[in-house]
Amino acid sequence: MKKIIIASDHGAVNLKTEIISFLKTKKIEINDMGVNSEASVDYPDIALLACNEFKKGGYDFGILLCGTGIGMSITANKVKGIRCALIHDLFTAEMARAHNDANFIAFGGRIKYCVPVTEMIEKFMDTKFAGDRHSRRIAKIMDAETKS
Ligand code: RB5
Repeated sequence: MKKIIIASDHGAVNLKTEIISFLKTKKIEINDMGVNSEASVDYPDIALLACNEFKKGGYDFGILLCGTGIGMSITANKVKGIRCALIHDLFTAEMARAHNDANFIAFGGRIKYCVPVTEMIEKFMDTKFAGDRHSRRIAKIMDAETKS
């Protein structure tokens, strides 16, 4: 059984609701860390809250949402151990798992995507990490956290 953490700022509340409904149909356990209103908040606060909760363990991956997904992904990628991929189609959803072994994926509630976000999430969930040379590359990314 998968367990997923999800969080958004005010720019993606409806998208978060849509994703949660989809994940429930898949019988996935969800920790919804908010927000649930369109009152303005600062996306770095929400991203850090979700990443720090994720790091406690027990989650398969996390989903971060804001107006564009950009602010959430930039913030998440500042947190040690987090690899957050900004997804925009089925190909990037697949590669984020197969090549980058992302532990967070980000989307924008104000973006008009060419495929539903739920399909991109499904593609990410159905893909396995390819390992091999990609493990070496990921090790180099994680090394950059201590060397930069
Ligand atoms: C908030 O207005 C907006 O800046 C935020 O949702 C996000 O798009 C930032 O990257």
